[in-house]
Amino acid sequence: MAEVVLALDLPSGTESLRLLDRLPDLRWVKVGSVLMTREGAPLICALAGRGLRVFLDLKWHDIPNTVAGAVSAARELGVSMATVHTLGGRTMMEGAAAAAGGELALLGVTVLTSHDAASYGRATGRTEVLLAEEVVRQAREATSAGLAGIVCSSDEVGPVRRALPRTALLVVPGIRRETDAPGDQVRVATAAEAARAGATHLVVGRPVLHAPDPAHALHQLLEEARCPTS
Ligand code: C5P
Repeated sequence: MAEVVLALDLPSGTESLRLLDRLPDLRWVKVGSVLMTREGAPLICALAGRGLRVFLDLKWHDIPNTVAGAVSAARELGVSMATVHTLGGRTMMEGAAAAAGGELALLGVTVLTSHDAASYGRATGRTEVLLAEEVVRQAREATSAGLAGIVCSSDEVGPVRRALPRTALLVVPGIRRETDAPGDQVRVATAAEAARAGATHLVVGRPVLHAPDPAHALHQLLEEARCPTS
């Protein structure tokens, strides 16, 4: 069984809260840099105040002291999950994990899905990069530095699951029902496929946000995630 996390990729906090009024079964929401820049801490407090668990996806990548400060601030706001780039390095990840304590689950972002092997090689000064191996390498580095888990695509969730401790969180975006359009996502999976492969959290945006009946779409996704074998 995996948790379903709704990505609040909406233009404003007001629209987000209005949609959430229609989704009483939802337990997790993701707030990214666009909504956070626009609405800030009051929105996080409003979401947490409704009893929702907040995944703050700001993908921090800075010097260790700054990232640890951001993690502490998120923890004080009542955020349940947040992201740092694993390429920020060992010291940064260890400091961030210490600042998170036991209350905030910190996830490592490995290779952005917008990269292919050529663009990742150019960004890192390497000629031969096997992206799947690179994701597993960074995932191991993240959990051994004390992070709770990583974000990865449905293509990588199986190998990453096998490489990491059983308790590691694997958060997978790009979730679609059989009937949904993939949109700009290249690597997509159904909630059942990702949960069977070992995902612990499934991030879903447009299949719910753009559905004619968002509550029905969410219900279908929650059912699939709860009973991935059926
Ligand atoms: O609308 P859709 O279901 O594609 O939304 C997926 C969400 O997951 C978006 O908020 C997107 O920014 C996020 N995400 C992603 N791929 C990643 C990391 C995050 O799609 N590798």
